[in-house]
Amino acid sequence: MKLLPNPFRALVIGSSGTIGMAFMDLLKKNPSCSEVIGIHRRSEFPIDYQNLESIESCANALIPLSPFQLIINTVGVLHTSNWMPEKRLDDLNAEQLIALMNINAIGPALTIRHFSKLLDPQNSIMVTLSAKVGSIEDNRLGGWFSYRSSKAALNMLIKTASIEWARTKPNTALIAMHPGTVNSRLSKPFRGEQIGRPADQAVNDMFQVIQNLQKEDSGSFVSYSGEKLPW
Ligand SMILES: NC(=O)c1ccc[n+]([C@@H]2O[C@H](COP(=O)([O-])OP(=O)(O)OC[C@H]3O[C@@H](n4cnc5c(N)ncnc54)[C@H](OP(=O)(O)O)[C@@H]3O)[C@@H](O)[C@H]2O)c1
Repeated sequence: MKLLPNPFRALVIGSSGTIGMAFMDLLKKNPSCSEVIGIHRRSEFPIDYQNLESIESCANALIPLSPFQLIINTVGVLHTSNWMPEKRLDDLNAEQLIALMNINAIGPALTIRHFSKLLDPQNSIMVTLSAKVGSIEDNRLGGWFSYRSSKAALNMLIKTASIEWARTKPNTALIAMHPGTVNSRLSKPFRGEQIGRPADQAVNDMFQVIQNLQKEDSGSFVSYSGEKLPW
C-alpha cells in the first residue's frame, strides 16, 4: 500500500537550494499537497549544519505546524570557495573531511532524529538526498574522498535509523535518494550545465518514486528512476 496520503502536508529542508526550490515549486502546484513549508539557513526558523544546535531548535519551533506526511531534506555540499573535491589522496585534508561530514552526514542524521517528532505516525515518508557516488560498492573512479565518505556515512546512518523505525515508526518510510546529475550550484564546476538535467525534471522524477513508496521500501537507497542502488 502507498504511504503518501491524499491530501498530504510537506516540509522541504534546504528550500534555498536548486533542488529544494524545485521541490517547493512542484509541491505548491500539486493539488494533493495541501501545504508545503520550506526551511533553510536564513528562513524564519533557521537550520544550519555549521551550528548543529539549530537542528533541534528548528524542529521544536515547527511542532505547532506539524504533522507532516512528507519531509524532504535536500541539504548537501560538494565544494566551497575554500576547496574543491579531492582528485587524489594527497589532496585529503582534515578541514574538508570534517566540514563535509558535518554538513552531509551529521547534520542530516540529527535532522532525522529531531524532526521525527514532526512526522505523522499514521502515514509518512522522510527522504534525504544522498548521492550514488556515496555507494561503496559502486565506487569505480576513486577521488572525491570527503564527499563520497560523507554520503556513505549518511547512508549508513539512514539504514541504521530505518531498522529502529521499523519497530518504533512502522508506518514511516525512511529513504536515501539519489537525484541523478542535476544542473545546479553544486554540479556547476563539473559541467553540470551540460551533463545535468533541469531541476524541475529531476524533482518530477523523484516525486513519481516518492508517491509510490511503501513501508517495505524503508531503509533503501533509491535512484530518481526508482532503481534500488547498492550501498
Ligand atoms: N546536483 C547534483 O547533480 C546532485 C547529484 C547527486 C546528489 N545531489 C545532492 O542533492 C542535494 C541538493 O543539491 P543541489 O544540487 O540542489 O545543491 P545546491 O543548489 O548547492 O543546494 C544545496 C542546499 O544545501 C544548503 N546548505 C549548504 N550548506 C549548508 C549548511 N551548512 N547548513 C544548512 N544548509 C546548507 C544550501 O543552503 P544555502 O542556499 O544557504 O547555501 C542549499 O539549500 C545535495 O544533498 C546533493 O549532495 C546533487
